[in-house]
Amino acid sequence: MNIVIVGTQWGDEGKGKIIDLLSGKVDYIVRYQGGSNAGHTVILNGREFIFHLIPSGILHKGKVCCIGNGVVVDPVVLFKEIHDLKNAGIKVDQARLKISSRAHVIFPYHKILDQLREKKKTYRIGTTGRGIGPCYADKINRCGIRIADLLNPYVFKEKLKDNLKEKNEVFRKVYGHPGFSFNKIYTQYLNYARLISKYVCNTSLLLNQAIRKNKDILFEGAQGTFLDIDFGSYPFVTSSSATAGGACTGTGVSPLKIDKVIGVAKAYTTRVGEGPFPTEFSDSFSRYIRNKGSEFGATTGRPRRCGWFDCIMVKEAILINGISELAIMKLDVLDGLKKIKICIGYKYKNKVFRNFPEDPEVLRKAKPVYQELPGWKEDISKIRQYRDLPPSAKDYLLRLKDLLKTKISMVSVGSSREETIFLD
Ligand code: GDP
Ligand code: IMO
Ligand code: MG
Repeated sequence: MNIVIVGTQWGDEGKGKIIDLLSGKVDYIVRYQGGSNAGHTVILNGREFIFHLIPSGILHKGKVCCIGNGVVVDPVVLFKEIHDLKNAGIKVDQARLKISSRAHVIFPYHKILDQLREKKKTYRIGTTGRGIGPCYADKINRCGIRIADLLNPYVFKEKLKDNLKEKNEVFRKVYGHPGFSFNKIYTQYLNYARLISKYVCNTSLLLNQAIRKNKDILFEGAQGTFLDIDFGSYPFVTSSSATAGGACTGTGVSPLKIDKVIGVAKAYTTRVGEGPFPTEFSDSFSRYIRNKGSEFGATTGRPRRCGWFDCIMVKEAILINGISELAIMKLDVLDGLKKIKICIGYKYKNKVFRNFPEDPEVLRKAKPVYQELPGWKEDISKIRQYRDLPPSAKDYLLRLKDLLKTKISMVSVGSSREETIFLD
């Protein structure tokens, strides 16, 4: 089976845990979009690993992890991650890590531009400052530098020179920044080229050959449906295709080869950065859930905004991605609440929207319409069978399943592998 894992909300749904859980059953795990803006957490034997670029399946021996052409690669982050894994006793060699020669490279000017643009803006996006937007902009502008370019010193020199000629002028004139030295970047990145070359290959060919040999692939989505450049709450989104379609364009694997899409959803909703959030809690309740669920960004450490589960959003995610089953995460965080709300519509100007609105103004001003359910008092983190869950927790899951008209195949009640309930 070739399975795509996607976030159904605004990222941080718990994709890392699900990827790690399913990695044992596949041969390849591949990241297809985004870059080091992602922070995917895996807990193994009580130890926390946060992956920004390396696929979350790397902790499983013998599995091949790929960074596809759709990813933007920051070599600084990549080599830190490889180094940290080695220190933790995890072998990362060229047999286990494959990087697409077509992936674009993040340079210091991308990161600084990302940060300077945010500072200058009236309406900030609240980006991670990792250079993601500027790097994808260069890709679309056809001036980006790919891994393959990096490996050819002559081509790299010409492309970097060309880029800096234009970019340094913008840095100076628009942002009052001194710009970047060609020599410094060239020397530093030639060194990265030397280190990266052993991992580089045509990952599209590699994956398609694997499929021909009936190997199984897990496609690891980063971010989430509502951070997708097309289907997200634009402009408060990231710059890549975080939805299932991105798995094909970001790896060169045909849609005909994808067997299943699994959606990952938190039992409530969170968001980092700016942008509309109809079901957002009051400040004090947000603080309570944030502390209970440790809702702080895995990449930037920023506090995550928290709110009720939003069926309008997740229904849209199911539609856009073709999700046939869901993993509901962090149900344990809702323990001890008297009441739990589920958003089933948006009210705007006396009209109730039952589908996700295309108009950002509606999303910004809409008042959520809620269904209310009783909560449960028990600590559910030790429960491993669906039948042992408190009746109100079962009712909550059943209600979600009915409203979303989609099967729930996994329920997560804690961050480790074992803290998972599998449903038939
Ligand atoms: P990702 O970006 O989708 O991989 O998610 P993150 O790793 O950014 O955030 C999810 C956080 O929730 C991580 O700290 C996980 O360890 C944690 N987590 C995952 N599943 C559960 C769960 O069921 N219960 C609790 N309490 N924490 C969880
Ligand atoms: P994972 O893969 C949550 C958010 C940022 C910001 C917006 C644009 O861990 O779920 P960017 O730096 O991408 O230009 O920022 O997107 N964002 C994320 N939020 N989880 C992520 O990744 C995110 N990656 C980007 O906070 O609002
Ligand atoms: Mg994350």
